[in-house]
Order: sequence, then C-alpha cells, then structure tokens
Amino acid sequence: MTVKDLLLALYLCSVFSVSVGQNETPKLPLKAVNLGNWLVTEGWMKPSLFSDIPNNDLLDGTQVHFFSSKLQKFLCPENGGGTVVVANRASASGWETFRLWRINESTFNFRVFKKQFVGLENQGGGTRVVAVSSAPSDPETFQIMRNDGEKNKVRIRASNGLFLQAKSETLQVTADYEGQGWEDDNPSVFNMTILADKLQGEYQITNGYGPERAPQVMQEHWNTYITEQDFLFMSSNGLNAVRIPVGWWIAHDPNPPKPFVGGSLAALDKAFIWAQKYGLTVIIDLHAIQASQNGNVHSGTRDGYQEWGDSNIKDTVAVIDFLARRSANKPSLAAIELMNEPLAPGVNLESLKKYYQVGYDAVRKYTSSAYVIMSNRLNTSNATELLSFAGKGFDRVVIDVHYYNLFSDMFKNMNVQQNIDHVNNQRAAELSSVTSSNGPLSFVGEWTAEWEAKDATKQDYQRFAQAEINVYGRATFGWAYWAYKCEQHHWSLKWMIENNFIKLN
Ligand SMILES: *[C@@H]1O[C@H](CO)[C@@H](O)[C@H](O)[C@H]1NC(C)=O
Ligand SMILES: *[C@@H]1O[C@H](CO)[C@@H](O)[C@H](O)[C@H]1NC(C)=O
Ligand SMILES: *[C@@H]1O[C@H](CO)[C@@H](O)[C@H](O)[C@H]1NC(C)=O
Ligand SMILES: *[C@@H]1O[C@H](CO)[C@@H](O)[C@H](O)[C@H]1NC(C)=O
Repeated sequence: MTVKDLLLALYLCSVFSVSVGQNETPKLPLKAVNLGNWLVTEGWMKPSLFSDIPNNDLLDGTQVHFFSSKLQKFLCPENGGGTVVVANRASASGWETFRLWRINESTFNFRVFKKQFVGLENQGGGTRVVAVSSAPSDPETFQIMRNDGEKNKVRIRASNGLFLQAKSETLQVTADYEGQGWEDDNPSVFNMTILADKLQGEYQITNGYGPERAPQVMQEHWNTYITEQDFLFMSSNGLNAVRIPVGWWIAHDPNPPKPFVGGSLAALDKAFIWAQKYGLTVIIDLHAIQASQNGNVHSGTRDGYQEWGDSNIKDTVAVIDFLARRSANKPSLAAIELMNEPLAPGVNLESLKKYYQVGYDAVRKYTSSAYVIMSNRLNTSNATELLSFAGKGFDRVVIDVHYYNLFSDMFKNMNVQQNIDHVNNQRAAELSSVTSSNGPLSFVGEWTAEWEAKDATKQDYQRFAQAEINVYGRATFGWAYWAYKCEQHHWSLKWMIENNFIKLN
C-alpha cells in the first residue's frame, strides 16, 4: 500500500463514518430560524394560499351556529351531544356550536360539543335528527344550500333528500321538509353564523382544494416559499441552523392518507442539500401530530379537538423512526424534535414521558450524535417538569421552551419597557431554571419580535429584539426565531433583517 493509497483509505473511512450516522457536531448555541408555513401550512402567515378554494369560509373545523329564522332560536344538540337535536336556545355558546367536517364544497358532517356527529336516527331510517354517532357516514352527511343573495341564509338537506326543519321549540328537529322558499317563517331556513376563530391549516387547505387541485397547489407552494436563495440569505446573515416543522403525513410520502398530499419529503430532502451547501444545520421538528397534541391549526388538526394520547404513541414513534432512519446519514442533521408544543392538561405528563422515552430510543437506533429535543408542554405552570426526567439515562437531549410576549392577557397592556423588562427578568429566570450545567441543554425553539405594545416605533422593536437575542442567547442549545417568512412583517426574520430591525452578523 502506498502512502497515497493509505491516505485515500483514511479519507474513505472518514467519509464512511459520516454515512453511518455521524453528523457533524453543530456549533452551539444555534442561531436558527423556523421554516414555518412551509411543510406545515398556517393560513395566517399567507392567507392567499386559501383564496381559490370554493366556499373557503366553510373549511374543516369551521365552527357555526344555526339560528332558526321562524322560531328565532338556535339549534342545539341536547346535553352537548348523545341524544336529540332541538331548536329552542335563545343564545349560543359551546353546545350550540357545530364543527364542520368538509366532504366537498357543499357537503359536510357536523361534529358537536361532545364529539358526536349530527345524523338521522336509526342509521338513517328515520327522519328525527340526533347527535349520537361517533363516526360519520351517509346518515350524518348534509348539504348546506346557501341563498344566492345572502350567503349566510341556508337550508340543510339530509341524506334522505329532505330538508331539516325546526317546527316548534318543543319538538325535536326533523329532516322531512319538502317545500321550497326562503321566507323568514319557513321552518327550513336558518341563519348560519360563522365563528371568527377558524382553522386554516394543512388539513383545511388540502381537503379544501380536493384531490385534483391540492397536489398542484401544495407542490407550487413548496417549490416557491423556501428556495436555495433563502439558505444563502440565512447563512450570509448570521444564522447557522434551520428548524423545519413537518407533519406526521410526511412518513407516508408519496401517498399519505387523504386529504394530505405527497411531496413534502422531497422538499425536506432539498433543504438538507441546501443546508449542507451553505453550512447550516437542520432541526427536524415533528410539528403536526396525528390526533393533534394541542388542537391548534399547526398540529394538522381537522376540527380543533386535541385527541393525542397513549393510543397514539405507537404511530407517532413510527414517524420519528422514519425521519431518523432517513436523515441519520445526512451530515447537516443537528437534531430531531419529538413533538412540538404538547398542551397541558390534554397531554398528560406521564404519556408524554412514555412517548419521549420511546421516541428517543427510535432516534438512537440510527444516530448517536444527533440531539433529541423534548418540548415542554405549551402551557405548563412548571417549566422544570421535564428536567429530572430528561436528565437521567439520556445522552444529547434538549428541552425546548417557546417564549412569546403574546397569547395571554398579561401582555395586553404592557408598554415597550415592560415587555423588555419581562424578557430581561421573568424570561431570563425561567430560561435559567431549565438550563442546567450537566443535564439536558436548553433551547428557545420559538420566539418572535412581535408583541402587543401599542404604537411601537422601529427603535422600540430593535430594543425588544435585542433584549430577546441577549437573553435567549443564554440557552445552551440555542434559539430559533418564528419564522423565516410571514406576511405579517415582524414575524418574518427575513423582513426584519432586510429592514434593519434585527442584526445578527
Ligand atoms: C359532494 O358530495 C356529495 C356526497 O358525496 C355528492 O352527492 C355531491 O355531488 C358532491 N358535490 C360536489 C360539488 O362535488
Ligand atoms: C344572522 O346572524 C348575523 C350574525 O349573528 C346577524 O348579524 C344577522 O342579523 C342575522 N340575520 C337574521 C336574518 O337573523
Ligand atoms: C392550558 O390550556 C388549556 C386549553 O386552553 C386549558 O384548559 C388549561 O387550563 C391550561 N393550563 C394551564 C396550566 O394554564
Ligand atoms: C416541577 O416538576 C418537577 C418534576 O415533576 C417536580 O420535581 C417539581 O417539584 C415541580 N415544581 C413545582 C414548583 O411544582
């Protein structure tokens, strides 16, 4: 063997060691940005993505009230579900609220407060309307017919071809109206109020466009929203990592369960190539989890109910296993985050720990060097509830906390200085409580310079962002801004850098 051969052999050896799951050790702490609204849609970040959906105010999870124009009363499943549907409520809140499951632009199931579906009794053999079925089929399927002039005036046709009617406050609602017309005393005419808090996520966009159009719309979005140019921008502006939210359906690419569409896996692969080219590392973040870990739009939920629990652990770990197996060999893999923002108390701590244990084991089957990130529960009152668990029996583990001066009444009336003080004091203390010297690392996996301070000037934003960068820079694993791109400018790190609100270099 010549010296040259020996060098070649050593070189191949080092290349080979990379290919069996040794990632380059990332330079900590990371300065990262979230590629939000790329592989997991969040409508508020780019509302126009939804504009070509027919009847796009009636997407999955949209909550509606039906007000009988004859009786001047709201429809209500008695007890919030499990029995008959009546029309005798003077005002509407939880029980009177119906969540849509969209079949197509005019056909829906209605899910009630206690999660049953409205339908015809006797598996469709009767005309009385009940809310008892736990799985929708034909008898639970209704067509909403909108009045041409007044779109919120509706009539509702049941699977027997007849219309729902509210004859009297003392009688059950029935599906036996055969007439026509839109007059106010017509018992089949309802005023449909759409509640403001609507969902615009991956389920809504893919099901809204439907199986013909959704694959094109999503592919176009993935191709254009984040490109190689963006990785160049990030690396030349002081960032060294990206956190990429993905949805559980990515593990079923190219043929995920409907309505999700294939292609996000190829986009993730491209991100790894660009990351490597521009010297960034990648955090894969399992952001949208089957059955929903928080009911929020970014969990991929259909209707906003948070239903993740012990029975979902197996499927969720399979997604982690898939992601780890496919990415362990990629040199720029920095970490895999097992679950974004589980919400207390729906996700209980014991289930979460059980899942984190098996999720960690799944990652370690393929890589010993990638970090494994365990997210704190979103609204836990005990920021250190994972600390002792994560500190025992794990290697290269990180705890993720998210800091927004938003989403709580506490921030509604804070002025500029109070917001900055809150970061310097409360946030700094909380971060320090989850940052241990020999335990798991800490990570502020989401934060933003948007806030509720009124009439804030550019200089105010600059001071606030700088305070955040100073404090979150103490996290031992690093931080990630939410997000890279967003139509609301202060949420877009790209815009904030381009407009000199934030300077990282
Ligand atoms: C919607 O679905 C229903 C039930 O499957 C079907 O009868 C109807 O023709 C569909 N409408 C459209 C516009 O596709
Ligand atoms: C329908 O409901 C909307 C919103 O609650 C209300 O503004 C409107 O006046 C109602 N229309 C009728 C005809 O009751
Ligand atoms: C967390 O949020 C849920 C849902 O909004 C709520 O029911 C629960 O009380 C909150 N828990 C804490 C500790 O704030
Ligand atoms: C927070 O949770 C940890 C782990 O369960 C526990 O040891 C600690 O006492 C809790 N702290 C508070 C303030 O409840």
